Amino acid sequence: MPRKQKISKKAAKKLKTAQPQEEFLLQPPRGMRDILPQEQPYWQQVRRVSEKVATDFGYQRVDLPLVEFTNLFTRSIGSGTDIIEKEMYSFSTKGGERVSLRPEFTAGVARAYIQHGMHILPRPVKLYYTGSCYRYDRPQEGRWREFYQFGCEVIGEQNPVLDAQIIQMGWRIIHQLGIRNVKVHVSSIGCPACRKNYRNLLVHYLESKKQKLCIDCKRKLDTNPLRILDCKEDKCIQVRTNAPQSIDHLCDECRIHFKELLEYLEELGIPFELDSALVRGLDYYTKTVFEFFSALSSDDSGKSKRNALGGGGRYDQLIKMLGGEDTPAVGFGLGLDRLVIEMKKLGVRAHKEPNPRIFLAQLGNFAKRKSLRLFESLERAGIMVAESFGRGSLKSQMKIAGRLGVEVTLILGQKEALDGTVIMKDMASGNQEIIDAGKIVDEVKKRLKK
Ligand code: HAM
Repeated sequence: MPRKQKISKKAAKKLKTAQPQEEFLLQPPRGMRDILPQEQPYWQQVRRVSEKVATDFGYQRVDLPLVEFTNLFTRSIGSGTDIIEKEMYSFSTKGGERVSLRPEFTAGVARAYIQHGMHILPRPVKLYYTGSCYRYDRPQEGRWREFYQFGCEVIGEQNPVLDAQIIQMGWRIIHQLGIRNVKVHVSSIGCPACRKNYRNLLVHYLESKKQKLCIDCKRKLDTNPLRILDCKEDKCIQVRTNAPQSIDHLCDECRIHFKELLEYLEELGIPFELDSALVRGLDYYTKTVFEFFSALSSDDSGKSKRNALGGGGRYDQLIKMLGGEDTPAVGFGLGLDRLVIEMKKLGVRAHKEPNPRIFLAQLGNFAKRKSLRLFESLERAGIMVAESFGRGSLKSQMKIAGRLGVEVTLILGQKEALDGTVIMKDMASGNQEIIDAGKIVDEVKKRLKK
């Protein structure tokens, strides 16, 4: 055995201070946060309503990995977009693969559709998903680096009635959450053929106004001129006021598709606004694009702050571009964080789980053991029970029962545990009865029915 070398206290201290201490922050990285129990009722409501609407419309859930190969996103979302240029969380694995945290779901859904041969399923294939997404954006109100989406994709059909139905679903979810005054901003960016002509016209116009654009937009003029239409800088907004609009330059097929979509929306009574500045931040779209805004998304001057509650569109080329068959598709994604903010602003009451009406108190180790069993029988019978098994004193347990406002407290002491009985105390009258432990579930049920 090697002898342990003794070092002086002074030397040990020196050694300790010589090693640089990594900064330890008691907080998550910027733009990420905990969603604490008191907020959960809102989140549960958003998830419940969205999943119910999706299943009512015949959608099936799909869960996808949080991490995908980076080039899936680069190819689908487009290399000139903000998401790909600035916002991806990308890294190399120990095996040397380039992967990224998903910034959205649609690319992953398209990948899964091709990989699992879903083209052989009856069309359209309807999928929904929910989970976290990651974008390294500048955090601000309604914009996080880790945020949550719910979305639906309908794959395999071309008809504009599906675009209308997708918008109807998003609108329905937002409405059912108590967020009224929702408006759909809608536009068509055409197919690759008509977009090419439009893009040329737009570039021609923007070149003539180049000096008035912000630095970022001057650069986008070469890389992704359509994105200039979405710039939030005042001077760029002014330039685009007179810019040619995509809906005036659609080919016949795209124009008819868009016209029919608007007719369906009118038929459904969904309020919409034509918004030529709507280009969306992802390159895979063709034809229809849309975003949901609430009245509160506008500031006092009526100017839209453009914090959309959700958005989506048609992406008829994406599946083919990723190596699948030529397959049209359309979908939407909702920002759950923004829905929750909106519900709070509007004072919408979130659904709360009912409080337990029974408390189970115990005294002594043997009774505690029996109480675990009793708790399980009650819980299996669908009866919500509160308890405080960690406490020893009956007085403190009764205090908790009083604070919770339960109707009945079941008390199991040493004697009852040995006798196979339970004391049932009516909290309003203070009356107590001794019940056979085997009958307690039925007795409690009877009592709760009264
Ligand atoms: P997106 O517009 O990029 O579309 O995102 C959808 C929604 O996610 C936004 O409208 C917004 O509510 C929310 N969101 C986006 N970024 C953030 C953020 N940093 N913080 C909080 N919320 C955010 C898509 O992702 C497409 N995949 C939607 C789609 C589905 N298109 C077709 N199918």
